[in-house]
Amino acid sequence: MTLIRLSGATKIFDATAKDAEPVRAVDDVSLDVAAGEICGIIGYSGAGKSTVLRLVNALELPTSGSVEIDGVDITRLGERELRRLRGDIGMIFQQFNLFESRTVAGNVAYPLEVAGAPRAEIRTRVAELLEFVGLTGKATSYPEQLSGGQKQRVGIARALATSPRILLADEATSALDPDTTQEVLALLKRVNTELGVTILVITHEMDVIRTIADRVVVMEHGRIIEQGTVFDILSAPQHAATARFVASIIEDVPTGDDLDALRARHPGRIVTLDVREGAAAQGDVFAALAAHGVRFEVVHGGINDIRGRVFGHLTLALTGEKDAVERAIAAASAFATLIEEDARG
Ligand SMILES: Nc1ncnc2c1ncn2[C@@H]1O[C@H](COP(=O)(O)OP(=O)(O)OP(=O)(O)O)[C@@H](O)[C@H]1O
Ligand SMILES: [Mg+2]
Repeated sequence: MTLIRLSGATKIFDATAKDAEPVRAVDDVSLDVAAGEICGIIGYSGAGKSTVLRLVNALELPTSGSVEIDGVDITRLGERELRRLRGDIGMIFQQFNLFESRTVAGNVAYPLEVAGAPRAEIRTRVAELLEFVGLTGKATSYPEQLSGGQKQRVGIARALATSPRILLADEATSALDPDTTQEVLALLKRVNTELGVTILVITHEMDVIRTIADRVVVMEHGRIIEQGTVFDILSAPQHAATARFVASIIEDVPTGDDLDALRARHPGRIVTLDVREGAAAQGDVFAALAAHGVRFEVVHGGINDIRGRVFGHLTLALTGEKDAVERAIAAASAFATLIEEDARG
C-alpha cells in the first residue's frame, strides 16, 4: 500500500536577494513510498532533498503537482486537518532542534502538551518512549548535558510521541561520529520494525542508505535521476552521480591512479572477477587458474552483503607462462565474468 505519493511535484521558490532567478528546488518529482518501508533519498547539497520532506509534511506547498498521504491530497487540507496530519508525521533533524530550557522528559512531552493530552497520559507515554530509546535514566537531564547520540535519541522519542505513522529524518546522523551513527540507525530500524513506522531518510552518505534503507532515490538539481532497491543501485548504478555515491563505500573495478599503482606493482595480467548473487563461481574460477598452472594474488576489491544478497569485485594479478595465462582466463571465463583491465583503458 502506498502511504506517501508525490506526483509531478514541483516547488519553485521566488527570486531572493541571494538568487536573482527563481529556484526550481523540486522539479517534477514522482515518488511512491510504501507503508512500512524505509526509503532513502540521497543527493548532494542543494539537490532538493529537504524541500521534498517539507512537501511531505506540508510545510511547503508544491507550485504544481500533488502530494498525497494515504490517498489524501494534502495540498487541499484546511488548518485543522493539517494539524492532524502533522501529528501523524514525526520529524528529526541534523542539529536535533531540542528545547534547551526543557528537560529530556519535557522535550518528549512537548508534542503531547500541544495536542492537549491529559497529564497522567503524558507521564506514562514519556516514560514508555524514554525506555524505548534507552534514556530512562536521563529524564531530568537537560540537552546540554547529553552527547550528540543521546540528543538524537531524545529527538526520536519526541518525534514518536504522537504515535505517527511516518517519520521524516533530515540528515539525522550527519552530526554524529561513525559509531554513534550506527547506534542511531539501529534505533531507527527498530522504530520501523517494532513500531511499523514508515521512514523517509534524507542523507548525502551512501553508508546510511546501505545500513537501513530498503529502497533509494537519487536526486540531482531537484530531479530524481535514479531509484531502485538498495541492492540494484549499489551493484549497478546507472547515473554518473549515483556511481560517485556508490564508489564512496564500494570497492569497484580499479581505474585511474588505483589501476596504475596496481600495474606498477604487478607486471603480469590483471583481471577483475565480477561476483554476482548466486554465482558460486569463485571456486571454479580459482580451480581453473590453478589447473593451468597460473598463480594469482587478490590485489583489490571486496564482497558486499546487502541484507543477504551478495555482489562485488575481486581483482586478481595473475602470474605464469603467457600462453598458460591465456588458456586459464579462457577456461575461467566459463564460470564468471572476467573484466580485462586493458580493455577498459
Ligand atoms: N525557502 C527557500 N527560499 C528560496 N530558496 C530555497 C528555499 N529552500 C530551499 N531553497 C533552494 O532550493 C534548493 C534545494 O534546497 P534543499 O534545501 O531542498 O536542498 P538539500 O538537498 O536539502 O540540500 P542540503 O544537503 O544542503 O541540505 C537550493 O538551491 C536552495 O537554495
Ligand atoms: Mg537539506
